[in-house]
Amino acid sequence: MLLSLRGVSKSFGAVHALQDVDLDVLAGKVTALVGDNGAGKSTLVKTVAGTWQPTSGEIFWKDQRTSIRTPRDADALGIATVYQDLALCDNLDIVQNMFLGHERLRFRLLDENAMERAARGTLAELSVTTVRSVRQLVASLSGGQRQSVAVARAVMRDAQLVIMDEPTAALGVSQTAQVLALIRTLADRGIGVLLISHNLNDVFSVADRIAVLYLGRLVHSGDVAGYTPQRVVEIITTGTLATAAT
Ligand SMILES: Nc1ncnc2c1ncn2[C@@H]1O[C@H](COP(=O)(O)OP(=O)(O)OP(=O)(O)O)[C@@H](O)[C@H]1O
Ligand SMILES: [Mg+2]
Repeated sequence: MLLSLRGVSKSFGAVHALQDVDLDVLAGKVTALVGDNGAGKSTLVKTVAGTWQPTSGEIFWKDQRTSIRTPRDADALGIATVYQDLALCDNLDIVQNMFLGHERLRFRLLDENAMERAARGTLAELSVTTVRSVRQLVASLSGGQRQSVAVARAVMRDAQLVIMDEPTAALGVSQTAQVLALIRTLADRGIGVLLISHNLNDVFSVADRIAVLYLGRLVHSGDVAGYTPQRVVEIITTGTLATAAT
């Protein structure tokens, strides 16, 4: 198992944002995490990303118990989080964004050619074809292209788990398709993907597994093939299935 949460709880004062959550994320698979507003999805992401510490419970990385105290700890393990608002720098170009904080040097100077080649290569590997030039400013990119650059940065830094919180929420139809294709490519390369989404079309088109949070509790999880969108909606809204699975 790539990442496992066991009995993870996170409280903010009297608010129990996560309660006794067990979750497994596999390498090479897309695991979708769904749930209504306030169900605890972003809190779970931030707990794995090192923003929050769990109030109780354990986190395992490749079956070893670990603690992720800071975003730096998550980064060192190989966990990359791509947030909706993305934390890219608008005033820098694609190459500069992909190497921000990890610039390559040659004779103590920035090795622009090597960075440009690596950036172009990673985007090509991920089949990102809509970006005209890696020297374009990120400010000039579409939402889908920005997602692609953020994901390419994670891949270039050898992320083994990529977490995406609502990656398609602000995107149009073709940009959404582009990001979903990218998510599939990541999984096919053996990377584990944890996809947070409200959009069940996205979930059913790209995810292998699904986990449902309801009021901070993980109430259902399993292979997507075992669910229909209608059933998932029922679990999201009621926390349970009134009818037995057939
Ligand atoms: N920093 C915080 N301080 C206090 N309460 C918080 C904090 N962050 C989240 N919460 C509470 O924890 C619960 C879960 O919030 P969270 O943001 O994880 O939900 P979510 O599933 O991501 O919702 P959405 O779909 O709206 O993004 C909510 O009740 C929220 O008010
Ligand atoms: Mg959220």
